Amino acid sequence: MPVFDVQQFRQQFAFFQQQPDWVYLDNAATMHKPQAVIDAVTQFYQQHNSNVHRGAHQLSQQATALFEHARTTVAHYLNAAHSEEIIFTSGATAALNQIAFGLMHTELKAGDRILLTQLEHHANIVPWQLHCQRHGVIIDVVPLTVERQLDMLAYEDLLALKPKVVSFSHISNVLGHIQPVAQMVALAKAAGAITVVDGAQGIVYQQPDMQLLDCDFYVFSGHKLYGPTGIGVLYGKSAWLERLTPIFAGGEMIDTVSFINTTFNKLPFRLEAGTPNIAGAIGLSAAINWLQKHNTEQIKNHKLLLLKDFYSGLNAIKAVDILSQPVHNAGIVALNVDGEHPSDVTALLNQQQIAVRGGQHCAMPLFSHLALPGAVRCSFAAYNTLDDVNRCLLALEQAVEILTA
Ligand SMILES: Cc1ncc(COP(=O)(O)O)c(C=O)c1O
Repeated sequence: MPVFDVQQFRQQFAFFQQQPDWVYLDNAATMHKPQAVIDAVTQFYQQHNSNVHRGAHQLSQQATALFEHARTTVAHYLNAAHSEEIIFTSGATAALNQIAFGLMHTELKAGDRILLTQLEHHANIVPWQLHCQRHGVIIDVVPLTVERQLDMLAYEDLLALKPKVVSFSHISNVLGHIQPVAQMVALAKAAGAITVVDGAQGIVYQQPDMQLLDCDFYVFSGHKLYGPTGIGVLYGKSAWLERLTPIFAGGEMIDTVSFINTTFNKLPFRLEAGTPNIAGAIGLSAAINWLQKHNTEQIKNHKLLLLKDFYSGLNAIKAVDILSQPVHNAGIVALNVDGEHPSDVTALLNQQQIAVRGGQHCAMPLFSHLALPGAVRCSFAAYNTLDDVNRCLLALEQAVEILTA
């Protein structure tokens, strides 16, 4: 396989031309956008700006065609069975809230169980608490092994309690560990549960195949897949989307309205109240089209090389405690400098224009379990280089020297 040309890939990002001194290793938070995405969004506003699904004029028809084409692009990317299985939301958080709220109104009742895991992002915990637990639904949690992997034996034991819903992340946003998602979905389905996969980090690691994975719901945010912020996707099998009570109500999602009663639109519009993020959907579709022009295996291998070099450099730095396992890792490394607060480390790295994140990464239950105040998270993307890895390692070495002096 030809080697991935990282410089050619990187040149497609105006950010790196304009800010050449920054080492950006905060990709799990959000990714930079290639010019193709910026152009698609700009072109929409400059040439086609109009509202969708409601205008008799040509501009609105163009905007509608672009918006619906974006839905088809996402549907193909996920290998969904139908494009109406793609609901545009503002992000993974909004999608998870819609699922939790929607299921509580139709499927769940007091005493039912929901199964989550110890390493979930707050977006896959708090909606279940807010919309379900306070109505008497019980939340169970899959624990971790000492290697900070999901304890699959405990998972099977908890499935024996017959949860109505099992919801877990494809990839941990803190540790980068890739979950055995296909196995987890299959086991949950065999136990009769509704399956929800939080693909916020998974989507950039691997193109998921909905018909193969066979989960009932899969969610992600566009901004972690080279797309704009404010756009996300709630994929659901049609039968399950039909069972969701809309969390938002208003224009677009209705069929008829009177002061006595409202009847609702068909999918996907029933779950897309109000004016959608038209430019965001078009930008996301541009991101997917752009990404598909690149060889994903080469990208995966490139990230693996970065990870390998990063780990061997880290292992040589004394006083660094690495929380993430190097195997089955999607390119996210959580670490700490012994006895030092992660914010002190990130502040020193920031002084050298190394962008990493420190703290609890919206995963407080994970850090309670680890009994740590947080961690420094370095997350890699395809546009990162070996030079980025080396500069980060050097800055970490210097931070250790300063903090432990
Ligand atoms: C695993 C995971 N789930 C959910 C989210 C929430 O995504 P957003 O803030 O884009 O809605 C994130 C964001 O970091 C995440 O990493």
